[in-house]
Amino acid sequence: MDEVEILLEELTNAHGPSGFEGPVRRIMQRELSVTTDSLETDGIGSLIARLGSNTEKPRIMMAGHMDEVGLMVKLITDDGYIKFQPLGGWLDQALINQRWIILSRLGPVQGVTGIKTPHVIAADARNQIFKRDQMFIDIGARNKEDVIQRFGIRPGDPIAPDSKFTLLGTEGFYLAKAWDDRIGLAVIVEVMKRLSINPPPNVVYGVSTVQEEVGLRGAHTSSHLVEPDIGINIESGVASDYPGITQEESQESLGKGPAIFLHDSSMIPSIKLRDLVVDLAETNKIPIQFDVLSGYGEDGAEMQKSRSGIPAINIAVPTRYLHSHYGIICRQDFDATVNLVTALIYQLNAETVNKLSDFS
Ligand code: CO
Repeated sequence: MDEVEILLEELTNAHGPSGFEGPVRRIMQRELSVTTDSLETDGIGSLIARLGSNTEKPRIMMAGHMDEVGLMVKLITDDGYIKFQPLGGWLDQALINQRWIILSRLGPVQGVTGIKTPHVIAADARNQIFKRDQMFIDIGARNKEDVIQRFGIRPGDPIAPDSKFTLLGTEGFYLAKAWDDRIGLAVIVEVMKRLSINPPPNVVYGVSTVQEEVGLRGAHTSSHLVEPDIGINIESGVASDYPGITQEESQESLGKGPAIFLHDSSMIPSIKLRDLVVDLAETNKIPIQFDVLSGYGEDGAEMQKSRSGIPAINIAVPTRYLHSHYGIICRQDFDATVNLVTALIYQLNAETVNKLSDFS
């Protein structure tokens, strides 16, 4: 594995359900402390890395979120099973019969969402969907007391999907949980490496936000601190290059470059910023694709609405099977996204930023 693959493995294997991003933050602190001038956190744990210090220059905020969809311990049954509260958007079918890690104060505890055996289900009921409120996690405990005392589990403890980074085939396809949005964080790390060697005409804030999956909360608080002039959000896109999903639902394919979001339920990007990105991609021969989603929300929306409003855009690495234990991305898309975002930041001098924000 090369350096990027090692970083992607570490970032995706790390556990960080919404509100419990500590392990991911430590990786980002380590990586960004080498390439940026200062690190600070906002009041709920978003990590803000600053490159450059000239107060006259435009402030560019590049954000990705640290949290992943997960669960939280809701209650422990008398016979020692864990009932849970989902954190972020899960399909009920993706929750059942999976491995999980409960992050207790005594350390990680493995468990599984048990599923009723078909032997006892009537033939006509075997196609039923198991509902989340019927589900529980089995950690191999004897009873409630055992869960609390021996495993150290308390209500409110975070629960993360248990799934390991895997190289899939030989052509740069990677399988892992939490691409959403650890891939965005990896882009920030790589872009900052390049910018640190040759300083851009602006001050760049690489922001690793918290609690995106439960309502863009860290992007709200960190934007307040950064006061950006331009917002570039880096996300996981919605690939639609597999059976059963249509072009009407999403328009991205793996291997065809970063997706420029033209619409999602949280934001319409700045048209001038979109044109700058598209022109840059053409000039630099970087493949891009477009996506128009009717659902989906992303941190760019909070940057866009910060202060009196700023130009913002969402650029995404296409990902299959988001919000599950197993997502797939393609390395070429990652590399192209790093190239595009780096090229974009070099373009954002004071004059260009003024033009982007001018409505006269
Ligand atoms: Co996301």
